[in-house]
Amino acid sequence: MSTAPQFDIDLAAFWQDPYPVLAELRAKAPIAFVPQLGGVVMTRRDDIATSEKQIDVFSSHQPEGLMNKLMGHNLMRKDGEDHQAERKVIFPSVSPKTVKAVWRQKFQAHTDRILDELVPLGRGDLFDVFARPVSGEALKEITGLTNITYRQMDSFSQGMIDGIANYAGDPEIEARCHSATAGIDAAIDEMIPVLKANPDHSLLSVMLEAGLPMESTRANVKLAISGGQNEPRDAIAGAIWALLNHPEQLDMVRSGQVSWLQAFEEYARWISPIGMSPRRVAKAHKLGDIEFHPDDKVFFMFGSANRDEAYFSAPDAFDVTRDVSKSIAFGAGPHFCAGAAASRSLIADVALPAAFERLKGLRLEDGAEVKLGGWAFRGVLNLPCEWSA
Ligand code: HEM
Repeated sequence: MSTAPQFDIDLAAFWQDPYPVLAELRAKAPIAFVPQLGGVVMTRRDDIATSEKQIDVFSSHQPEGLMNKLMGHNLMRKDGEDHQAERKVIFPSVSPKTVKAVWRQKFQAHTDRILDELVPLGRGDLFDVFARPVSGEALKEITGLTNITYRQMDSFSQGMIDGIANYAGDPEIEARCHSATAGIDAAIDEMIPVLKANPDHSLLSVMLEAGLPMESTRANVKLAISGGQNEPRDAIAGAIWALLNHPEQLDMVRSGQVSWLQAFEEYARWISPIGMSPRRVAKAHKLGDIEFHPDDKVFFMFGSANRDEAYFSAPDAFDVTRDVSKSIAFGAGPHFCAGAAASRSLIADVALPAAFERLKGLRLEDGAEVKLGGWAFRGVLNLPCEWSA
């Protein structure tokens, strides 16, 4: 057990808004054991950026973890050569070059089609009728599972995310996770002969072409679904919400003073879609005067690092003019997000400019409440809006 000081939290309040507690932790106990979370949290950017690179100590290999048990052993839960070998296999599918040459136009076509259906309606919950399908259609292309609907993609992703956070062992949540992974396996089985006959740039196809064992191929497709649906969805809806709430900053983006990419990156810093990533301590280690022991559970709090006062002035303010180069919204080490280039293209090159261009006079629905939630994964939960049909 680590010698980190204990720090108690109210879990329900933390889910509603984790930032006041994270600021207190950064100030008083930047590395602390939080019994309500069942692990040691790391809340300062420097500690996380250093520790994430020390894979011999802070390991991603968690054989007893729920992710391995429920989704198979994927590349994000491997370290060193094993990890790098599989990253090398998938890179051609998600590289900036492939995103620009192949995925960007597909993202645009899906987004335009979705907006064609939305514009005449004049109002709707953009979290559900825009962000969710835009993210789902993009992920169908990237994974190669074009034989499922975006709603299946979304529910498969949610089923797995709930399953790997199901520390209480709720049988219903576990059953939903199993049916999600079974649904993905069936979709993969259906696509294998299609992609073998006509290989493309999708994750499934490049892994099949590389001859990666099917067990790893399936696990990595499930990983991309669990980490590639909610994050872009939450970032698209969240960034629209943030800009509508800061009209002067929206004007800066619309006038070209600030880029859509800058606006997205600032949103992802401010409310990081992935607020935490876990590690298992592989060997005894000392950081400052804190001792870590083998099998300690450590949580890298990316959402806290992105509000670290040592790097960001007025960190709780949304400010599209600030320098976000120190944001670690996509990670800070060897497990840096493999989907970062695809996400930046989907969100900043396509979804945000298209939504504000096509939904004329876009505004939040009068009197409607926008709800936010989560600490490990955080974002808006709805986005009721109106526009001129
Ligand atoms: C706004 C969107 C996204 C955000 C904020 C995000 C964030 C992250 C973060 C923080 C990590 C690192 C986790 C760690 O260090 O343990 C990560 C890893 C990963 N992400 Fe993303 N992600 C996004 C979208 C996507 C998409 C669209 C895909 C799929 C195409 C994807 C696939 C992956 C994969 C495969 C990894 C594991 C990489 C590795 O372990 O080497 N992500 N993501």
